[in-house]
Amino acid sequence: MQSLQEKASQWSGVHQADAFAIDETNLFEKLGLQSFINLSTNFYNRVYDDEEEWFRSIFANSKKEDAIQNQYEFFVQRMGGPPMYSQRRGHPALIARHRPFPVTHQAAERWLQHMQNALDESSDIDPESKIKMMNFFRHTAFFLVAGDELKNQNKQHQVGCKCKHAAEKPAEE
Ligand code: HEM
Repeated sequence: MQSLQEKASQWSGVHQADAFAIDETNLFEKLGLQSFINLSTNFYNRVYDDEEEWFRSIFANSKKEDAIQNQYEFFVQRMGGPPMYSQRRGHPALIARHRPFPVTHQAAERWLQHMQNALDESSDIDPESKIKMMNFFRHTAFFLVAGDELKNQNKQHQVGCKCKHAAEKPAEE
């Protein structure tokens, strides 16, 4: 069976090595905290203004300010900065934290489009860093889609099947 990482690479078209090229340089030191705050603010302004109700509604139970802070603190931590996210929220556990939301292929593509537009507008981030960040985002987005499909398969399995696996939790969360 394909692992979540393999599915993420296949669906995103981003090899694992390219997704984790964010680790080659310390992007936090290179870009600084304010660039991350600006990026997440720009991104979530776009998400909350999205003309597509189906996409906007995924975020309806979150306050925009909180969503911005959650996101930039995670990016800072993941890209070489201090562990701001974990100190406030605990382990990122991205698949588990996205479990309440329908993270479909379509939702991933729309999330990525907003992120691409936000990056295009970020004059404080250099082109090479933008490419590295986008590869990481793209791969992670489809990793979450793979996690979402696992969740749905598990639900169907539990409804439609009486075998011993029905009680098992997915292995990779
Ligand atoms: C694929 C499409 C995606 C959808 C539909 C989605 C949706 C959401 C939603 C609705 C939230 C709750 C907002 C909040 O209260 O913080 C959230 C939180 C979050 N997302 Fe995503 N997301 C996606 C992709 C990503 C990607 C690619 C990353 C990382 C690269 C990411 C990282 C996070 C983080 C760190 C949080 C905060 C979790 C928490 O602390 O509760 N998401 N996402």
